[in-house]
Amino acid sequence: MKMIDIALPKGRLGEKVYDMFEAAGFSCPSIREENRKLIFENEELGLRFFWVKPSDVAIYVERGAADIGVAGKDILLEYQPDVYELLDLNIGKCRMAVAAAKGFRDNSDAPLRVATKFSRIAEEFYAKKCREIDIIHLNGSIEIAPILNLSDVIVDIVETGKTLYENNLEPIETIVPISARLISNKASYQFKNETIEKIKAGLAGQVRNTKND
Ligand code: PRP
Repeated sequence: MKMIDIALPKGRLGEKVYDMFEAAGFSCPSIREENRKLIFENEELGLRFFWVKPSDVAIYVERGAADIGVAGKDILLEYQPDVYELLDLNIGKCRMAVAAAKGFRDNSDAPLRVATKFSRIAEEFYAKKCREIDIIHLNGSIEIAPILNLSDVIVDIVETGKTLYENNLEPIETIVPISARLISNKASYQFKNETIEKIKAGLAGQVRNTKND
């Protein structure tokens, strides 16, 4: 039997994703053991799971190191990996938004200074509006940028809005809703089609369940 390699995003979202795999019958009991291992195998079912940094899942899948994986729509939009997007898992829900200090109005003719980890998403969003921008690419703690006048606005993920609120920022515009997606390597999808389709169908059953929660 051909083994299926599955890249899961390490962290809270990954735990929920694995719960869905398990509930759908694609389990790997050793993954529940408390240790720092990154690879887990269920030989009987022909499954191998591994934990990777959430933003790296798409790289593993695109290059075929993993057959399938679960990545946020934010990562797929930003890096546009050459993979198939098979299913919206309807978890890890949040939105990509523009935010700024309370009361900010974009009424200047100068390029808008935008701090973000998601440069491509920000560039495409403002290109559509024909608004000239100056991208300031940061790797984290984006919310600090407008406070220190490094930027006028930020483009970042908003889930509960708590981080913005606690830093005296407010969302101005939603760019796109985000959720976790099942993705597949293109060649794997062809050569391991039956198994991948089975996993997709099993997970799709779980998506309906989570929607009813
Ligand atoms: C994201 C994002 C915000 C926060 C928003 O960061 O960059 O900082 O979550 O969540 P909230 O609206 O519920 O406050 P994340 O925790 O993913 O870490 P990161 O900064 O490493 O991306």
